[in-house]
Amino acid sequence: MSQWSQFLEPYKQAVDELKVKLKGIRSQYHLEDVHTPVEFVTGRVKPLASIYDKTLEKDIPFVPSEELATELPDIAGLRIMCQFVDDISAVVEILRQRKDLEIIEERDYISNRKASGYRSYHMIINYPVQTVKGEVSILAEIQIRTLAMNFWASIEHSLNYKYESVLPEEISLRLERAAEAAFRLDEEMSLIRDEIQDAQKYFSEYKQLATRKRDPSTKGGGQV
Ligand code: GTP
Ligand code: MG
Repeated sequence: MSQWSQFLEPYKQAVDELKVKLKGIRSQYHLEDVHTPVEFVTGRVKPLASIYDKTLEKDIPFVPSEELATELPDIAGLRIMCQFVDDISAVVEILRQRKDLEIIEERDYISNRKASGYRSYHMIINYPVQTVKGEVSILAEIQIRTLAMNFWASIEHSLNYKYESVLPEEISLRLERAAEAAFRLDEEMSLIRDEIQDAQKYFSEYKQLATRKRDPSTKGGGQV
């Protein structure tokens, strides 16, 4: 196995495990039939090409090392998407209570959005991975954001990639406006959150009823 594959293996394992665990939060809320603060979860190990770019930016050697592991805390990256801004603090609180990870840094780019317009809540965690050679602790980054924040960030990221971070003025201006619109969308959604939740609960009850009607063997009977 190459040195890089060996170095990245615990990160892969961490991403796989954390995806399962964070998705677990969602299914647990579903079982309770209450609004889940987790809409969906994604995760990735930073591709080698991106690791390479980052080492150039940070002026550190491109070799698997302790230095690289501490300088790049997002080799393992997880994203938790939420419907509402208030869900983000709920997720943060859930993560703070967990015993299987240690939060070592939190950055609130929601209260303090970046100049680019970027909003998101970031956490750097220490996460222990069990390997055949014993336990290894790795750093991972968890980004928590609303669907609107995610939409904006992914578009902005693609545009920066396309224009190699030098955006034409017109596009820059549109992105600024889009950031403002995404912010307003989050605000509006928060205002009508209660109504949305009621509708979702009603729809879920309706679905259950419809299932029972289709399948008379389901508890509660149905059409005979
Ligand atoms: P870099 O911003 O990647 O140099 O890392 P950092 O050490 O400054 O950490 P920071 O918390 O600022 O950003 C970490 C990650 O957040 C990045 O790798 C991106 O995934 C995301 N991010 C930060 N700023 C922006 C931004 O302006 N636009 C987008 N699309 N993503 C951002
Ligand atoms: Mg940065």
